[in-house]
Amino acid sequence: MRTHRIAVIPGDGIGPEVVREGVKVLEAAAVRAGMFRLEFDWLPWNCSYYRRHGRMMPADGIEQLRTYDGIYLGAVGDPSVPDHVSVWQLILPIRKAFQQYVNLRPAKLLAGLESPLRHKEARDLDFVIVRENTEGEYSDIGGRLHPGTPVEMAVQTSVFTRYGIERVARYALSLARRRRGHVAVATKSNGLAHTMPYWDEVIRSCRVEFPDVDVSFYHVDALSTLFVLRPETLDVVLATNLFGDILSDLGAAVVGGLGVAPAGNINPEKRFPSMFEPVHGSAPDIAGKGIANPIAAIWSGAMMLEHLGHPEPAAEVVRAIEQVLAEGRVWTRDLGGTASTEEVGDAVVRALEHPRPVGARPR
Ligand code: NAD
Ligand code: IPM
Ligand code: MN
Repeated sequence: MRTHRIAVIPGDGIGPEVVREGVKVLEAAAVRAGMFRLEFDWLPWNCSYYRRHGRMMPADGIEQLRTYDGIYLGAVGDPSVPDHVSVWQLILPIRKAFQQYVNLRPAKLLAGLESPLRHKEARDLDFVIVRENTEGEYSDIGGRLHPGTPVEMAVQTSVFTRYGIERVARYALSLARRRRGHVAVATKSNGLAHTMPYWDEVIRSCRVEFPDVDVSFYHVDALSTLFVLRPETLDVVLATNLFGDILSDLGAAVVGGLGVAPAGNINPEKRFPSMFEPVHGSAPDIAGKGIANPIAAIWSGAMMLEHLGHPEPAAEVVRAIEQVLAEGRVWTRDLGGTASTEEVGDAVVRALEHPRPVGARPR
């Protein structure tokens, strides 16, 4: 039987709370499937590690991670460490080193949940954001100039490469081909006159390879209105690193919030490990209380199973999540319930083991 080695980085705040439930569900899914084993190594790389060692991960951290089949992350960020330090020493180097150039963020209304958008139902809310994840606005080229003088300034240069745009565009186009055949590209070619016209031009040049896919370009400001007013027109949304970051929290909001928004940082060629983590952060405002919603983390774990070549167990986990949501009893506070993080994890495991048609109430 095949064993997949997974590096678990629980991180900070609610990260460890939600990841614990995710691992519990993944273990149950693997036992049920009986076709593969999962071996988890827990890596304590977070802001407490930083306070002890002056860095977020060991000097050979990337080399250690390289040996794994997958990385499962909670979230990092603690008020004691500046956010740009925690992020630039852990998450961003992992995304870049392992060429996880697709950040795949489904925005799908699960059975049992209601959208905050009036009159929008599950059939209206099923799109996926493909966020470029290795370059763009998240570049480390820049710095402070003339510090301490009246002309002090900060500069950060965006970087868009043909190679980087082409690979993520091809991914989005081929994903659309397997879905409903539409790509909505987020641009801002009116305001950002060097980078964004180039982004559009390179995407247009890839589009000819996918004549069956319909591609529309929207300025990101206008596109954000479609997320709220006409989400049913969206299928695949292709966005730069920063625009994709912002749009994915909006996408989460329209399908129930950050508690139910999963993500995969994917290296599609599988040359390097991919990393799965919820869209949300470490939520210091609710950390330590046992009330965080673990569904985003559990669903991200299902995306990892799919990436590892196990689509059926992955679908079973999503179905189990939907069973719990649809039964409506074990909901965390963000969804309007009173259940704890652990109670939701346990309920998903039970739903895996005792599948009922989604929507059916227990007797
Ligand atoms: P956040 O996502 O942590 O929290 C935003 C709001 O959503 C908070 O009110 C929080 O309580 C709520 N929330 C988030 N996840 C939830 C869950 N699972 N269940 C219930 N409620 C949930 O965003 P933020 O406040 O901007 O950032 C907090 C910290 O997290 C910062 O240090 C930031 O840098 C970091 N961060 C890390 C990641 C990551 O590790 N991938 C992602 C985003 C933010
Ligand atoms: C996310 C987060 C990160 C990002 C932060 C923590 C750098 O917001 O994963 O969406 O912007 O990518
Ligand atoms: Mn974000």
